[in-house]
Amino acid sequence: MELLLLGATGAVGREVLDMALADPSVSRITAPTRRALLPHDKLHNPVLDFDKGLPDADWWHADALVSCLGTTIRKAGDRAAFRRVDHDLILMCAHRAKTQETPVMVLNSSVGANPRSRNFYLRTKGEIEKSLQKLAFERLVLVRPSLIDAQRDEPRLAEQVSLLASRLMRPLTPARYRPVTARHIADCLLRATRGDAGVSVIESEKIRSAGA
Ligand SMILES: NC(=O)c1ccc[n+]([C@@H]2O[C@H](COP(=O)([O-])OP(=O)(O)OC[C@H]3O[C@@H](n4cnc5c(N)ncnc54)[C@H](OP(=O)(O)O)[C@@H]3O)[C@@H](O)[C@H]2O)c1
Repeated sequence: MELLLLGATGAVGREVLDMALADPSVSRITAPTRRALLPHDKLHNPVLDFDKGLPDADWWHADALVSCLGTTIRKAGDRAAFRRVDHDLILMCAHRAKTQETPVMVLNSSVGANPRSRNFYLRTKGEIEKSLQKLAFERLVLVRPSLIDAQRDEPRLAEQVSLLASRLMRPLTPARYRPVTARHIADCLLRATRGDAGVSVIESEKIRSAGA
């Protein structure tokens, strides 16, 4: 399988990349990033300035596109900048891949994604899910993790507090809202590249069973 991976420098994307590099059934990985990745025989790593637009290239064609791309409102600066990444940029990349006849897309979305949500973050996640459905991939899988349990390069205080609280409250927390490790999500995303045609959703409580 040839894989196209977005967000390979992120917490989940790094895990997807490591797993895919180690997986003999994956013959080639194209991972466009802003920062160069460590070289590997199976890896093609176009380094792009995504703000300057996306290049026309053959490498948008793959057997499956996995997106772990995303930012936070804090990192992006404001809501509009957040939406440009978590909706517009993902959609533009998906459109390139679809135009180059990539048949399958798997999106790392979020628990609670809903285009009618009153919460801006969840609404944006719901909107990208909806926009991707309109592109009509042969197979589209929307994976909706709860809080991601991962080692991060940069401190995210609110996230760390939530993770700590979730660990303490784990027995009382419904399965859907329990933290899920970046590795389990990555495993699930990779497995989701294979399967029947159509649109499917994997909710957070199913990530481990769908991926383990
Ligand atoms: N944090 C949570 O608990 C949580 C929960 C549910 C869902 N999610 C969603 O899950 C997805 C993956 O999360 P994560 O924690 O793995 O994310 P992450 O660690 O923040 O990584 C995000 C990736 O997106 C890339 N990216 C961000 N802005 C970009 C831009 N303007 N142009 C090009 N690339 C850009 C980053 O590249 P650089 O390394 O160059 O910045 C990185 O590769 C995100 O969509 C997130 O919203 C997160």
